[in-house]
This record gives sequence, C-alpha cells and structure tokens, in this order.
Amino acid sequence: MIIEPVKSLKGEITVPGDKSISHRAVMLGAIAKGTTEIENFLMGEDCLSTIDCFRRLGIEIEVFGKNQVKVHGKGMYGFKEPVQTLYTGNSGTTTRLLAGLLAGQKFKCIIDGDASIRKRPMGRIIEPLNSMGANITGQGGNNFCPLVIHGRPLHGIRYTLPVASAQLKSALLLAGLYADGETILIEPQKSRDHSERLLNYFGANIRVDGNAIHCTPVSQLSPQHILVPGDISSAAYFMVAALIIPDSEIIIKNVGINPTRTGIIDVLKAMGGKISIHNVRTLNNEPMADILVESSYLKGTVIEGPLIPRLIDEIPVIAVAAAAAEGTTLIRDAQELKVKESNRIYTVAAELSKAGVDIRETEDGMIIRGGNPFKGAVFESHGDHRIAMSMTVAALAANSASTIYGSEAVNISFPEFFEILKSLQE
Ligand code: S3P
Repeated sequence: MIIEPVKSLKGEITVPGDKSISHRAVMLGAIAKGTTEIENFLMGEDCLSTIDCFRRLGIEIEVFGKNQVKVHGKGMYGFKEPVQTLYTGNSGTTTRLLAGLLAGQKFKCIIDGDASIRKRPMGRIIEPLNSMGANITGQGGNNFCPLVIHGRPLHGIRYTLPVASAQLKSALLLAGLYADGETILIEPQKSRDHSERLLNYFGANIRVDGNAIHCTPVSQLSPQHILVPGDISSAAYFMVAALIIPDSEIIIKNVGINPTRTGIIDVLKAMGGKISIHNVRTLNNEPMADILVESSYLKGTVIEGPLIPRLIDEIPVIAVAAAAAEGTTLIRDAQELKVKESNRIYTVAAELSKAGVDIRETEDGMIIRGGNPFKGAVFESHGDHRIAMSMTVAALAANSASTIYGSEAVNISFPEFFEILKSLQE
C-alpha cells in the first residue's frame, strides 16, 4: 500500500465492532441455549476464525447483512467432537479462550493456529487449566500450539495470575463455568473485563471484588441480543492521526469506552491531546460514546504500571504520537509486547526508525525522543495488523510518500481501515 502524506483529516466515522467483545459474544452464544443475535460483529479474520471453530464444534452460525450474526447455541454441553483440528489462524483470543472452554468438555480436540500463534506462550493457560483437572498438552514442553485437549471434569481453583492477561483470565473463567466449585482469580493489575461483563449479561454469576474475580459454575446461560460497540483499539489510529496532522477534526461515533480499555484516551489527553467524550450510554453492560478529536500540540509522557494493560494493544500507535510529540516518552512495564502478534518492542522500534524517529528498545518498553519530522519510508508490517496501521498513521504525517509492505494484515482486525481513512481526506 502506498500512503501519501495528507494535509488534514476531517469528518465523522464509525469503526468496526470491538474484537474482544465479538469473539466473546459468539463463544457465550454457542454455550447458551437458544439463539443469540449479534449486531455490529467484527468481520475481521480473527473473529471469523472464532466462527469457523464453533461451526466445527457443531454450532450453527448464520452470518448476514454487513455485520450481523446469529448463533444457535446448544447449551453448556451441546458441542460435537470436532473431526478436524480447530484452526484459530492468527487469533490469540480464539486460541486461549477456546482452550478454557473445551477443557471441561467430554471429548478430545486439537487447537492450532498460524506461524505467529505457534510462537505465542500457551504454558500460561495450560498450567492453571491442568491444575483445575484439565488434560492439555502442548509442543515445546507444554508451552506452544498445537494444543491437544482431552476433556475432563474440572474443579475450581484459587489462582493468582502471573501476568495481567485478559485472555488468560477469560480462559480460566470459561473453564470455571464447568468446574464443580467456585473459581477465584486474582489479577496483578486489572485487564479488560469484557468476559466478566458479558458472562453476567448471559446470566452467569461473576462477582468482582477489587482485583479478585469469583466465578460460580452454571448449568445454563440464556441467549441474548448484543450490539457490539466500536473498537477503541481501531479508533486509536484515527485519534492519533487527527492529533498529529494539522487542521484535523474528526468524530468517531459509537466507540466502546470500557474503563479497562481507555488508557489510550488518558495518555493522549495527558500528552496535551484535545479529545472529548460525548453522548455516553450503556448497552449490554458496556459503555459507549462518541469521541471528538482535534489536532493538538503534544508533549512526551511516562506510561507504566497499571496503565499498561489498559492500552496494551495501542502502544504501537502511541509510539507514533510520542514520536510526533515534543520531548521524551518513556514506556515501561510493557514486556508483554514481546509476545503479541509480533514482538512489538522490536517491530515498533525497527519500523519507526526507518521514518527517522529517535526510538530505543528497552527490556520492557521503549524510549522515544519526539519532535523530528517523519520521513517517508518503506515499512514492513511483520504480518502484524497493528504495526501496519500504526505505520500508516506515521506515513500520513510524513514529508513524502511511504510504502507499507504486508498491509493486508489489517484484515485481521480492521478490513475497512484504508477505506475509512480515505473518507477523512479532502
Ligand atoms: C485480548 C487480550 C489482550 C489483547 C488482545 C485481546 C482479549 O491479550 O492484547 O488483543 O480479547 O482478551 P492478553 O490477554 O495476552 O494481554
């Protein structure tokens, strides 16, 4: 994809449905008894991998219109033993949550994904699930996909998570639904809580007490009608683009503003970004709003501690904002970036350096000395959707045209990205 610099971005847009909520809506719809209707479902490759896996598990799922889905759930034990490997593509959420959900079923199955999934740590789910009584093995000393799961009866555990990971937490919550007693999870820091909210919306009993989550087993969930809010992780690219490109003003409508996800807004505001939130409302236990963003003079900041899980997926594009800002930005406590779709400490630093950005990798983050104008460059996505979109934002603000190789990676979470971007250009 060739990206020409732009003079300004103006207009009103919506972004596709939230990826985390879209996955979970299908999963809970599949184990509820009856039909769950999902509107504004994200038709990105990751969420389509989830649909595909549940079809292989015998669940009838209808996809119609632009982004509507009907899941004909068959109850907690309604799956059929899949004859083929459950292929999760590039999707960590599908892989890990599915493992938790299938650990307590009455059959054997195999979960596997693409080359990137095979590099991502699975020991973090295998170990606690096996301590609940599951029988899961993985490659490389039980750490990697493919995972082989022999369904077993499960018991509840009390477990302190070693990392603030919503995928790990959710895998254990889904397994906990099938356990013979309460499961208590303690998070080191709060990670996104969509599973807790949606499970309760479907009639489960999840109680949150500070960083502790109590999950009571259930025998039945009730189907629901879900309207998926726009994905704040997708909105983030336009937020940063509008801030760093002069004379820009955009409104992003119907964006999910769950407080476990709004670290990006807090940080951009702390950097001096003019961002305002309008029309806040709550739908299916999730808050959403319209976000107004105007070009701003940005300054560097420090991003660390409990803020990190609230913006983990936005760090690549925050690095772009930091590069455009005056002064130094320090990002630490973000070692989880190394085990995302790419090693994002390395890929962000390698790619932004090409644009003339002064950026240094550290063990748990990066140091960015901002203020140099971006140079047009030849970028590589490393097969990572968030790197492709973040480098596009840098390219929009550059002094000459850029090329993004592997730009098709955007299809993982945001197939309409380039089209919506175009609609904001005059
Ligand atoms: C997600 C959790 C996060 C996030 C990922 C989606 C989820 O991963 O990075 O994009 O839907 O639960 P971790 O749980 O590995 O932090």
